[in-house]
Formats: sequence, C-alpha cells, structure tokens
Amino acid sequence: MSQWGWTWGQFLDHTFGLRDDVGGAAANIPFNAADPLEEFRNDFGAIGFNRSAATPGTGTGTSNPRQQTNTESTFVNAAVVYSNSPARLEWLRDGSVDGNVTNNGPTMMLPGGYLPRRDARGNPATAPPGDVDGRLRADPTRSFVAGDKRVNENIALSATQTLFAREHNRIVGLLPNTLSAEDKFQIARRIVMAEQQYITYTEFLPAMGVRLPAYNGYNPNVNPTLSNEFATVGYRAHSQIHGEFEFEGDTGRWTQAQLDAFEAQGVEVEVDGAETALVVPLNVAFFNPDLLPAIGLGPVLEGLSGESQYDNDEMIDNQLRSVLFQVPVPGNPDCTGSDDAAPQPASCAPSIIAGASTGRRPGAGSCVRPTPSSR
Ligand code: HEM
Repeated sequence: MSQWGWTWGQFLDHTFGLRDDVGGAAANIPFNAADPLEEFRNDFGAIGFNRSAATPGTGTGTSNPRQQTNTESTFVNAAVVYSNSPARLEWLRDGSVDGNVTNNGPTMMLPGGYLPRRDARGNPATAPPGDVDGRLRADPTRSFVAGDKRVNENIALSATQTLFAREHNRIVGLLPNTLSAEDKFQIARRIVMAEQQYITYTEFLPAMGVRLPAYNGYNPNVNPTLSNEFATVGYRAHSQIHGEFEFEGDTGRWTQAQLDAFEAQGVEVEVDGAETALVVPLNVAFFNPDLLPAIGLGPVLEGLSGESQYDNDEMIDNQLRSVLFQVPVPGNPDCTGSDDAAPQPASCAPSIIAGASTGRRPGAGSCVRPTPSSR
C-alpha cells in the first residue's frame, strides 16, 4: 500500500462525511507534557476539539442514543470537486456568478492549472467558506477554494482535488461543440463521479482489505446514512498517515531560490546528482497551499505512490497525535517544524493567535513546537 491509500481515504471521506459543528461544545483534549512518550511541547496545553451538538430528537435516553448530524450527502458523488451547494458550485465554475448556473461555462475555474484562491473573483470575503488553520491563518486569502471546505488541510489532499478538477476540464475538452455548455458540464461531472466510484470500489476498498459482494442494483430499502460509529471511529484511518512526504524531480526542476525557500519553511532538500528529493514533514504540508504549485502537481502525485503507508492500527504518527496543526508565534522559529532555526515566516505575527479561525475547530490553535528530543 502506498500513501495513495490514505490520501484517497481522506479525499473520499470529504465526499461523504462532515459533521455539523454548529452549537457544539468545547471538549479540548488536554496535553500531558509529563507523559513519558511525549516528545512535543504544546504551549496552549490542549488540542482544540469540539463535541458536536446532538441531532434534534436524539440523546434523550439509553434507547435513543445521541447522534451527530452529517452535512454531506453520504453518496460518492464527487462533492469534493463540485460541492453539494449550487452557490458554491457556481463560484467554482468558469463564468459569471449571478445565481444562474445554466449560463456558466462548462469548465471548472483553474487559474494556471491550480484551484482558485479566495481572491480569484475579486473580494476574498465573498468566496465560499473554507477551513483555515496552522500557518494559513497568517493569510487566509491564499486558501484554495474547492467543493469541500477542508481542501487546504494537506497538500496531498489539495493535489488530488486539483487532479479531478483538471480531469473535469480534460473531459469537457473532448466533448463535441454541438453540446451546450451546461450539457458538457453535466456529462463531465457524471464521468468524474463514475471514475471516483470506480477507483473506490475496484481499487481502494480491495486494497484496504474490504471485499464487497457483487453489486446487484440500487436497493432503496438500505439506509445509506453515515453511522456515528463509521464517521468517528471505523473510517478514521488516521493511523495510516505518514509523518512526511518525499517528492522527487530532476535536478534543475526547482531553482536554487525555490530550494532555499523550501528549506526556510522546513522542507529537507537532498540533491543527489541528477535527482533532487524534497522531504516534506507532514506539519509543513498542513494548510500550506502555496507549497503545491511551488513543488508541482506531478511530483506531489507521483511521490504519494513512492512510499508505503503505515498500517491501519492503533499507532498514530507523532505529528498527528501530539500536535496536529501548529500555529507559528513570535519568538518560536521552530514552530513551523523546521529542523533549523529558520527565519520566521510572515505568519509569525501576534495577530495570528488572536485572529479567529474560520475552521470547524474553533480555538484549535495549538501553538506548539517539537522539543529537541523529537529530532
Ligand atoms: C493528514 C491527513 C489527515 C488529517 C490531518 C486529518 C485530520 C482530521 C481532523 C482534524 C478531523 C476533525 C476532527 C473532529 O473535530 O472531529 C478529521 C475528521 C475525520 N477524518 Fe481525518 N484527517 C486526515 C486523514 C484522514 C484519513 C486518511 C481518513 C480516512 C481514511 C480520515 C477520516 C476522517 C473522518 C471519517 C473524519 C470525520 C468526518 C466528519 O464526519 O466530520 N481522515 N480528520
């Protein structure tokens, strides 16, 4: 299993599962610095966490357990690319935003081949909402916008989302011009959905050890709702996530200035003759959309298949377990995960800590840094 296993798993999860956070209650996870296995420091003393509000009518007794509400459709419908919201989809499609999708172009907006940023249509404040955490809090305008608001969570996820938006446009380009823009859009969307279903059922699930009986047609009597058990435990394959990525390219693909910039934010650069490798710690890949076009979509997607992933077990990588997203602060150059005392990036400003996150994990700011022993 390569890292494509977990990358597809997360991409797919963002298609069918997102709990409603409105009305939730803080249930922060305390950080235990005295834990003998703990190798990180957490300046806030906790990892921010929210308990979902009960779905109305649930949680009233032992025979009626509390449920959370899912805000996605639960079907494998490529909502990560297109969203389930017509308004969001219209913003993402080429053409004007006027409440009428039928006068939009057939293609997805992909300036320079990458997902649009929040300012792609001018005012970033009117772009669809998106999760912002970690270093992205310094400049949320840099966020990619996609069908799902978690698109910036890590660059492997953003890369997969970019791949399928490009795939949509590739299919549109193959369709005859006798079709209307709207027909082209709907046909390409249908094919992208089918591709994602095909990969999920014929490649991803068997690779994860799940063997399903042959499909015998749609059964309207099966309740397709995501169960709490599935969303909160069963499908949280977080243990498979590796603590770093390795991306390779021909030496010369990246300029020295680019390599220096990578190193300054914590990427390890290894030049070996004709090959250059970039080792990107997971925390540098979190909420760091600028890193994707800087490295390039090809090396990122290829790199995912070059390294094996962890087992699906109870062992969670340190980067996820102890700290998750790191919010850089003044006087803490290591906060971004760099091995060297790199110059503080622009995100190391006090206002970042005070600034509200638009994410679904309010107050999640773990201002943390690895202690020297974790190196
Ligand atoms: C670097 C990769 C990943 C990171 C940083 C990450 C992080 C997170 C975070 C912060 C949450 C929200 C926690 C909460 O408040 O409930 C979450 C939810 C979730 N994650 Fe991941 N995750 C990653 C990859 C994955 C993968 C590989 C899978 C499955 C194969 C997965 C499945 C889920 C599921 C099912 C949820 C619950 C979604 C919902 O119903 O709201 N995640 N993840």
